[in-house]
Amino acid sequence: MYTEKLLEHFRNPRNYGRIEDADGVGKVGNPVCGDVMYLYIKVDDGRIADIKFETFGCAAAIATSSMVTEMVKGKTIEEALQITNKAVAEALGGLPPIKMHCSLLAEEGLKAAILDYYSRRGIEPPQELVERLKRLRGEDTHDAAE
Ligand code: FES
Repeated sequence: MYTEKLLEHFRNPRNYGRIEDADGVGKVGNPVCGDVMYLYIKVDDGRIADIKFETFGCAAAIATSSMVTEMVKGKTIEEALQITNKAVAEALGGLPPIKMHCSLLAEEGLKAAILDYYSRRGIEPPQELVERLKRLRGEDTHDAAE
């Protein structure tokens, strides 16, 4: 049911681990299954200089976590904010529909870490980010995953 690319990321996750002196940390849980993800970012000159994750979840959750870190490493915060769970799933060659909710952790973890970064710096976060996080955390996770 999984693509080769997804299985490869699951077996060899990129950027797995923790950043002790992170500039932003996102801790998120998947309301559908109870799985949990931590995402850590270091920001330098407006870019994501380093990123690591710890995900306690299924193969799809680990592979999408790994993929999202690869997609945003070195990107600006603004570019990172454009990433959706759908784009992460597509980069892995797709996910079976019943596993689409697993990819929500990757987007939500990244966005929660960026929100944490903004709040530590006393920066007002973009309204779009606040709205999207609300939606990702809301009851209607199926809708957010589409
Ligand atoms: S089953 Fe929980 S994230 Fe996949």
